[in-house]
Amino acid sequence: MSEATKLRDSALAAIERARNDAELEAIEVEYLGRREGKISRQLLSGIAQLDPSQRATLGQEANEAKRAVEAALALRRSDWYNFEALNLPKGHASRDVQETFFLDANEEIVLRTHTSPVQIRAMQRIGTPPIYIIAPGRVYRRDNLDATHLPYFMQLEGLAVDEGLTVGDLKGTLLYMVQSLFGRERSVRMRPHHFGYTEPSYEFDTMCGRCMGKGCRSCGGQGWLETGGCGMVHPQVLRNGGIDPDRYSGYAWGFGIERMALLKYDVEDLRLFYENDLRFNRQF
Ligand code: DAH
Repeated sequence: MSEATKLRDSALAAIERARNDAELEAIEVEYLGRREGKISRQLLSGIAQLDPSQRATLGQEANEAKRAVEAALALRRSDWYNFEALNLPKGHASRDVQETFFLDANEEIVLRTHTSPVQIRAMQRIGTPPIYIIAPGRVYRRDNLDATHLPYFMQLEGLAVDEGLTVGDLKGTLLYMVQSLFGRERSVRMRPHHFGYTEPSYEFDTMCGRCMGKGCRSCGGQGWLETGGCGMVHPQVLRNGGIDPDRYSGYAWGFGIERMALLKYDVEDLRLFYENDLRFNRQF
């Protein structure tokens, strides 16, 4: 095995093991740093080789190693936050459900499908709890455009990590949010669900404002309107964010902002939010 190939393999193994962005950064410097990087030096020495035939092979191998390491880094960074760090490993069912947009032919670089990766970034950046954040942002999914689906939209993510947080705190927060948006007479319902990054997980619904929970046409007879997802942050996700799950617990939730606006303002068609028709925009 050539020196470049050995370096490539050890870099790829380190990238696989890395637990956060800082460690990926350190690996990038160690192998690809411009002057001192182990693979970069191989490239330079390849160029310096006197025998032209050797020069070509060495240079080619070092180049190949460099590209492989770059691709693996990119994979861990955009894929890692969106899926891996949220306990959604390769082959996990919700990777399909989310209908990802890929930016490259190798399907390694993704446009984020939800704002939940912000949870990991927040934990890493803030470090020691208490952590209380709200993160709005654009997300992308391969959905066909119609009155109730958009290929890109806005989500709002909430995350709390502290000592002693429980499902009661989660429910109280959702209730406070929904009542602030829709009025004190509306309540919240949580239904068991599955998300890789929370345990337990729920979908939460807002009481229908037309029938007040009795069931009518506009809520399909349910009495409730599906609003978003939530749960207690999975211990492994806390660990991935650098937080000790034996000491701290957390809750999180996320929902689509346009859908919430649709409920609040009785808008019939989600596409109206993106058409920039002034007759529509001026109403708000
Ligand atoms: N990310 C989920 C989605 O896009 C929503 C969600 C579920 C957010 C559970 C959360 C959560 O923070 O805990 O459908």
